[in-house]
Amino acid sequence: MCRKAARILSAQVVLKPGSVLGLATGSTPLGVYKWLAEWCAAGDVDFSEAVSINLDEYVGLAPDNPQSYRYYMDDNFFRHVNIKPENTHLPNGLASGKAEECARYDAVIRAHNGIDMQLLGIGHNGHIGFNEPGAVFEMDTHCAPLTESTISANSRFFSDESDVPRFAYTMGIRTIMRARYIVLIVSGAGKAQILKDAFTGPVTPQVPASVLQLHGDVILAGDEEALSLLV
Ligand code: GLP
Repeated sequence: MCRKAARILSAQVVLKPGSVLGLATGSTPLGVYKWLAEWCAAGDVDFSEAVSINLDEYVGLAPDNPQSYRYYMDDNFFRHVNIKPENTHLPNGLASGKAEECARYDAVIRAHNGIDMQLLGIGHNGHIGFNEPGAVFEMDTHCAPLTESTISANSRFFSDESDVPRFAYTMGIRTIMRARYIVLIVSGAGKAQILKDAFTGPVTPQVPASVLQLHGDVILAGDEEALSLLV
């Protein structure tokens, strides 16, 4: 699954070296970043002109906090490839004004003429980025409260559940839907039901990923367990 997604992503960069890549965090994309680092080291893919714009970041975490998404991206991807640090973008978890930070981030996306390829994972409750169930579709970058189920799922990365931030900056559904194409990666039996709901159920804000049914160019890369209820 990760190799497939990595191949699509590297083909994007080979065909358009200055691609704007929408990138994601979580456990699922780790393998994607490993493959890309390997191929970059071998000289098969070159990120020197590429731009990355990440989906989301926790509010209140500093870039050097190991639980921040900036740290994750530096640690798992950016420092292993030749992307220019100034071409890597995430919301600033320590920004003083939330509305200003969201506006700044949307301006970064606009200044790069939008996202060419958006890599996405899916939360157990159907969230994409940090657009939780009930999030309205017509939203750009905003500061979102996390649901109890997301706080609990993501607490595995923190020493205590009480340390998990309660808010995050996230691209909105509208921002995500403007990407030219989307690669959704999903693994494990625990995601099978939500994946089925997202792709065969009604399009509803209660299952944020269901909006992907309305996008013209979505590639779903999943492992057998995650896809088991779809086939
Ligand atoms: C997090 C992120 C999402 C990610 C999801 C699934 O909350 N904000 O962007 O897709 O969780 O993560 P995992 O791949 O670890 O299951």
